[in-house]
Amino acid sequence: MATTADYVRYNSVARALHWSIGVLILFNLFTGIFGEGLEKMWESMPVHKATGLLILLLSLVRFGWRLRWTTPDYPVDFNPGFRKFAAATHGTFYLLMLILPVTGWIFTSAGKYPLSFYGLFDWPKLALTKDMPIVGAAHETHEILGYAFAALVVLHVGAALYHHFALKDPTLRRML
Ligand code: HEM
Ligand code: HEM
Repeated sequence: MATTADYVRYNSVARALHWSIGVLILFNLFTGIFGEGLEKMWESMPVHKATGLLILLLSLVRFGWRLRWTTPDYPVDFNPGFRKFAAATHGTFYLLMLILPVTGWIFTSAGKYPLSFYGLFDWPKLALTKDMPIVGAAHETHEILGYAFAALVVLHVGAALYHHFALKDPTLRRML
C-alpha cells in the first residue's frame, strides 16, 4: 500500500472544512427528509435551521479558502473522465452548499417563528411575506435541490469507496 509520501493530500484547512461541513450536511439531509417523522419524538426543525445557517457561514469560509489554492494533483494514471466528473460534482456541491441554506433562510423569513441560532442569538430575518413569489419559489427550490443534494452525496460517497476498495487508489486517503 502507498504511504502518504507517495501522494499529495488536500491541505489541512480544506480537510477540516470538508469533514466538519460534511457531517453537518448529513445531519441536515437527515433532519430535512425525516423531519416530519422525527417531530413526534424531537423538535428537529429549529436545529435544522440553525445548522443550515452554520453550514452557510462555514461554506463561505470554505469557498474563500478554496479560491486561494489548487487541488492536489491526481496520480498520473488517473482516468481523465473521472477527473472531469469529480470536478463537475464538486462544483455542484459548492453551489448547493450556498443555495440550500439561502433558500431556507428566504422562505423561513416569511414564517412566524424566530430564526434562533441554537438559542444564542436571533438570526436576522429578511423582510419578506408569504404572498411574495420569491418565498414560494425558494421553498420549492429548497425541497427539490435538497433531494438532489442527497442523491449527489450518495454518488460522491459511493465514488470515494469505489476508488478506495475497488480501484485501490489514493483518492480517499488524499482527503484523510
Ligand atoms: C445545507 C443546508 C441545508 C440542507 C442540506 C437542507 C435540506 C433540507 C431537506 C432535504 C429538506 C426536506 C425537503 C422536503 O421534504 O420538503 C428540508 C426541509 C426544510 N428545511 Fe432545510 N436544509 C438546509 C438548510 C436550511 C436552512 C438554513 C433553513 C432555514 C433557516 C431550512 C429550513 C427548512 C425547513 C423549514 C424545512 C421544512 C420544509 C417543509 O416541510 O415544507 N433548511 N431541508
Ligand atoms: C456529506 C457531504 C459531503 C459533501 C458536501 C462533500 C463535498 C466535497 C467537495 C466539495 C469536495 C471537493 C473538494 C475541493 O475541491 O475543494 C470533496 C472531495 C472529496 N470528498 Fe467529499 N463531501 C461530503 C462527504 C464525503 C464523504 C462521507 C466522503 C468519504 C466517504 C467524502 C470523500 C471525499 C474525497 C475522497 C474527496 C477528494 C476527491 C478528489 O480529490 O477527487 N466526502 N467533497
